Amino acid sequence: MLVTKDIYYVGVNDHQLDLFEGQYEVPLGMAYNSYVIVDEKIAIMDTVDINFTEEWLKNVKEVLEGKEPTYLIVHHVEPDHSASIQKILETYPNLTVVCSQQASNLINQFYPSLKDCKKEIVKDGDCLSLGTHELTFYTAPMVHWPEVMMSYEKTSKVLFSADAFGKFGANDVEDPEGWTCEARRYYFGIVGKFGIQVQAILKKLANLEIDYICSLHGPILHESVQDCVKLYQTWSSYEAEEEGIFIAYASIYGHTKEAALLLQKELEAQGYTNVKISDLAREDIYECVENAFRYSTLVLASVTYNGGLFPIMKEFIDHLLSRDYKKRKIAFIENGSWGPMAYKTMKTMFENSKEITYIEPVITIKSSLTEENQNQIKELATSLKNTSL
Ligand code: FEO
Repeated sequence: MLVTKDIYYVGVNDHQLDLFEGQYEVPLGMAYNSYVIVDEKIAIMDTVDINFTEEWLKNVKEVLEGKEPTYLIVHHVEPDHSASIQKILETYPNLTVVCSQQASNLINQFYPSLKDCKKEIVKDGDCLSLGTHELTFYTAPMVHWPEVMMSYEKTSKVLFSADAFGKFGANDVEDPEGWTCEARRYYFGIVGKFGIQVQAILKKLANLEIDYICSLHGPILHESVQDCVKLYQTWSSYEAEEEGIFIAYASIYGHTKEAALLLQKELEAQGYTNVKISDLAREDIYECVENAFRYSTLVLASVTYNGGLFPIMKEFIDHLLSRDYKKRKIAFIENGSWGPMAYKTMKTMFENSKEITYIEPVITIKSSLTEENQNQIKELATSLKNTSL
């Protein structure tokens, strides 16, 4: 498939994968993208997952039409992109691997047999001419590993962005939700912790005219480039994407759930309708993480358990904290029949988070909702609504 003049897509789609990177559900599969630039010198951009080496090699050969490639550009060494390097070097032994110094070290660690392969180490700002096309390299440490670099091809105005701007989902199925939803779950799941580093690379790229973004996962971006860059600006600066409330609850016998649902009902009755609610134990935890970052306000409703917090709520908050959750409003509902401890534990967990505003009242339920609890929930709905105006 032609991306633009002389640049071809040679990636593959994975519908066998159960969990991406061992933890992320991918109901629409996953794409491992790779590209070929055909010029006086031919460059192959990255490889694919080990289970798709043969299919990928066939795609590459079809584009090459018997010609010899000169370069294999390695933007990222995580095995979903590097696992077929050995095979391509066996097929084309004269290939020079172009990568950062750290990428070279990682290649040697992952694939010791490649220690002596021909490599050209590039640094930030280095250029590589292929003939008409010229690549400029931009290091992008921690987006998503330390060795990552991106490259910009100035003739076609194409950015090869490594993992950035990727999404979950294979390219041969249409995502009914479009690009943003699964790109957001991917971003906060995978690079959410590295907002500062994402901001740094966005700054480096700010003056480039970008017509196409060719990521290592998901569709090639063209008409939506500006919108997607804008979303990355928002996400990486930890600003909420929209004014709204995400209620995340963990319930055992249904009373905490009842409180969460009542809060949603009260908010809607008061005219506040942008409310999303999730049962943490029964929904994809990374959908929940994504929603916590998406909306401006988070309500946490949890039962007490073993003198502390119910495990799934603890895990959820850990996911948020390990991704530097900040700049949000938070409210709490706790339940504990004889020694409620959930609120205290949750509040303590957030003590090092920056720019958090707590919304009151904190609601304590003892077993089941009392009339007082119901009135407190109404009061909390009003406070949440008023702080959102
Ligand atoms: Fe798609 Fe970080 O590997």
